[in-house]
Amino acid sequence: MNLKISTIYDCNKITLNKIENRAGNITVIENEIDIPFAAKRVYYLYDIPSGAERGGHAHKTLYQLLIAISGSFDVMLDDSRNKKTITLNRPNVGLIIVPGIWRELINFSGSAVCLVLASNNYLEEDYIRDFTFFLQLKKDKI
Ligand code: TYD
Repeated sequence: MNLKISTIYDCNKITLNKIENRAGNITVIENEIDIPFAAKRVYYLYDIPSGAERGGHAHKTLYQLLIAISGSFDVMLDDSRNKKTITLNRPNVGLIIVPGIWRELINFSGSAVCLVLASNNYLEEDYIRDFTFFLQLKKDKI
């Protein structure tokens, strides 16, 4: 997806499978079956202090799936024209974020864990960390 034309409406919650059992549940994520991309990298945010804010950037090419594996948090999405806030609070519900979307993660509950599946390895060049630059990119000025 072209980072300049993507919108927040391309970023949706998905309900993942849940294999239920009296001894607990399992959720399985298989590349290009349960999610619309192949994950090359998995990381997780944890031990998040009360009041902390994460994110504050967009990506040029990266697709991500965010899941509140434990606890809850809010994801604020901005495509330069529209904004929406999504609450994640279930281990079998994820949020797909496409390239070209500014995101901020806020309101982490105690013991929240944010699992992230990402379509590529860590590349600092893929980040857009300057909001003014982001707005210019989305307006096709540069
Ligand atoms: P960043 O993605 O900016 O964090 P967040 O969006 O959760 O606030 O990453 C924070 C730091 O961690 C940054 O300096 C780079 C480093 N980092 C890696 O080295 N590899 C990774 O895969 C990630 C996600 C971050």
